[in-house]
Amino acid sequence: MLCFSVYELLKPWLFRQDPETAHDQVLRALAWLARRGPLLEVVQRLFSVQDQRLEVEAFGLRFPNPVGLAAGLDKNALALRAWPALGFGFVEIGSVTALAQPGNPKPRLFRLPQEEALVNQMGFNNDGAEALARRLEAWQEAYGKLPVPLGINLGKSKATPLEEAAQDYLRTLALLLPYGDYFVVNVSSPNTPGLRELQEKERLKELLGALTGFLQGRKPLLLKIAPDLTWPQIDEVLELAEQFGLSGLIATNTTTRRDGLKAPFPEEGGLSGRPLAGRSLEVLRYLAKGLGGRLPIVSVGGIFTPEDVWERLEQGATLVQVYTALVYRGPSLPKRLCMGLLRSLEGAAIKELLSRTGRL
Ligand SMILES: Cc1cc2nc3c(=O)[nH]c(=O)nc-3n(C[C@H](O)[C@H](O)[C@H](O)COP(=O)(O)O)c2cc1C
Repeated sequence: MLCFSVYELLKPWLFRQDPETAHDQVLRALAWLARRGPLLEVVQRLFSVQDQRLEVEAFGLRFPNPVGLAAGLDKNALALRAWPALGFGFVEIGSVTALAQPGNPKPRLFRLPQEEALVNQMGFNNDGAEALARRLEAWQEAYGKLPVPLGINLGKSKATPLEEAAQDYLRTLALLLPYGDYFVVNVSSPNTPGLRELQEKERLKELLGALTGFLQGRKPLLLKIAPDLTWPQIDEVLELAEQFGLSGLIATNTTTRRDGLKAPFPEEGGLSGRPLAGRSLEVLRYLAKGLGGRLPIVSVGGIFTPEDVWERLEQGATLVQVYTALVYRGPSLPKRLCMGLLRSLEGAAIKELLSRTGRL
């Protein structure tokens, strides 16, 4: 495939640069592309797969295919319209926080090419909820609604104490409510001190109570969890997810563990990519068993190939997301995953697979 080989040519040049610099350059190029209508259409024709058999319905939304862009790559919605053109079936922006913040000192993003992994200590660097709301308003005015569902992932501002977390998330949610098709409470990033303590039962109860009380079912709310929770902790999350009528779970965020690595890596932060795949799959299986199809699960972590996507769907996921594989495999990844899925489906539709396993 032509697009695949172009990225293979570009990759050595990109990989010679500092990882965050390369990321920013690619994002700038995509942001440029996102405002070029005719060119975007060419890209769409080259990169996306339109096939009804790939359609998925979940939490009241229609997804043209189940492969989404994971949170963190386009935190500030700079390249919004580029993602559907590259073939993604949904896009998750953020994490966004109530207050704009610079994130942790650089360098804070590291490649582990032998492992097809990344380690990041970004710390929710983002423009803040107000700036994001203005940008989303401008996108909508200029181009109308995105052709695929848009998720907005909410994080906690670093300056806000844990005790005031609910108010902080509420402020962001209220500002962005008109723009997202679904929202995600992110309590699982390892790079904001104390954040993951919000996964503890009492704190999570307070947070979910505040957010669902405010939302009153107006938009779907999902919870994104860490892969490092114990089974009893996951049981508590499941109980609360059902109690508060959440629309779904996203599993998983990055891991602070390093046992999946072939060689030690000195930097702290969240590990993503290949070495996370085993744990992410294990958590998916556990959630799927506990939920028995009652809530949709978005599986993320170490998904690289069509076989990975197929396995996640078979093991209980309704949708999947990718981040690290995009860095290693390039922009034709969504297309390759969708084409591979169509091959595995052998003429059937994803909806049939999901309904066979009690998920519709
Ligand atoms: C550089 C980087 C930044 C990320 N930022 C966020 C974030 O802001 N919010 C979030 O929920 N997840 C964030 N993630 C986690 C991803 O959304 C995803 O859950 C994780 O990387 C596992 O998927 P992958 O193996 O396909 O990368 C980030 C991941 C990376 C690599």
